[in-house]
Amino acid sequence: MKLFNIASFLTISTSIVAGTQWYPLDIKGEIPATFTPYKRGDNVYLDCISRNIDNGEHKFDEQDKIIYGPFPTCKETGKPLNFKYGISEDFNCTITFSDELYHLFQLYIHEDVPFSCRLPISSESHYLEQGGAYIPLTFNFRGEIHDSHLDIDPTLNVLITKPANNNEDENTFISAVAYSSGTNATRIVIGDSLTLSVAVRFLDQLKVTSSGTTPAGLPYAEGFYKFPINFTPISPTSSAILLFMAVLITGIIVFAATYNYLSKRLIKSHKYKSVDSEAFTKMD
Ligand SMILES: *[C@@H]1O[C@H](CO)[C@@H](O)[C@H](O)[C@H]1NC(C)=O
Ligand SMILES: *[C@@H]1O[C@H](CO)[C@@H](O)[C@H](O)[C@H]1NC(C)=O
Repeated sequence: MKLFNIASFLTISTSIVAGTQWYPLDIKGEIPATFTPYKRGDNVYLDCISRNIDNGEHKFDEQDKIIYGPFPTCKETGKPLNFKYGISEDFNCTITFSDELYHLFQLYIHEDVPFSCRLPISSESHYLEQGGAYIPLTFNFRGEIHDSHLDIDPTLNVLITKPANNNEDENTFISAVAYSSGTNATRIVIGDSLTLSVAVRFLDQLKVTSSGTTPAGLPYAEGFYKFPINFTPISPTSSAILLFMAVLITGIIVFAATYNYLSKRLIKSHKYKSVDSEAFTKMD
């Protein structure tokens, strides 16, 4: 019934609004042009759709609004999983499988329903409760379902794209996804704990397929924030080392080439020869 209502609503709205429009919009259908940007290190409040364990349907409140709740609590922090804005980091989050969470994971792993969460565009408190715009973040856990237990891959890459210009007024989210990316699954029964290995990466260098400037009335530059075709996932430390090596080697080549050239020229001219030998004696 609920799904049918949503479907007919979507058909009507798409037939009225043709063409393209900004994504995401707030609950009023407006572009979230003014929002409170995040500061580096701010806690990002993440909430997730509450689902019925029987069929995975959304839970609704009395006003037929979808009920959201926090991500399961991590034992390490005593708080639900969350992220720090702009900070790429690795951490562990140990969750405990209550009867309810176990049955929800059966649905997630079987891909009956997505583990859907969302990130608010704005850092102001209660922004989403007031109908603010958000970016979806789906946790794509994988594994296998067995009669007596679940096998779950507990590794999680969390990729979060932010505007690439590093303008602090535009500190928000463009897209996000989380997915298991390991080779081992852990056997889980009701009551067990599972330590998730979480690797959060903020993608802040994805160039947008437009001029990259933010037109008035838009929250950030429009376009497709896509991976370059020769994308190499490399840590900042190793790229710094590579860059240093490249600069060093180029320097040596340039020095060698110039030295040869200069020596030849200087040998030809008596006037400079003494300067030459003096200069290089000093260097020794
Ligand atoms: C996560 O837990 C494992 C096992 O206890 C440990 O070896 C690892 O260092 C932890 N990782 C982080 C990022 O704390
Ligand atoms: C993953 O499974 C392999 C094969 O069973 C095992 O050798 C390895 O130690 C496991 N790795 C981890 C991190 O548990």
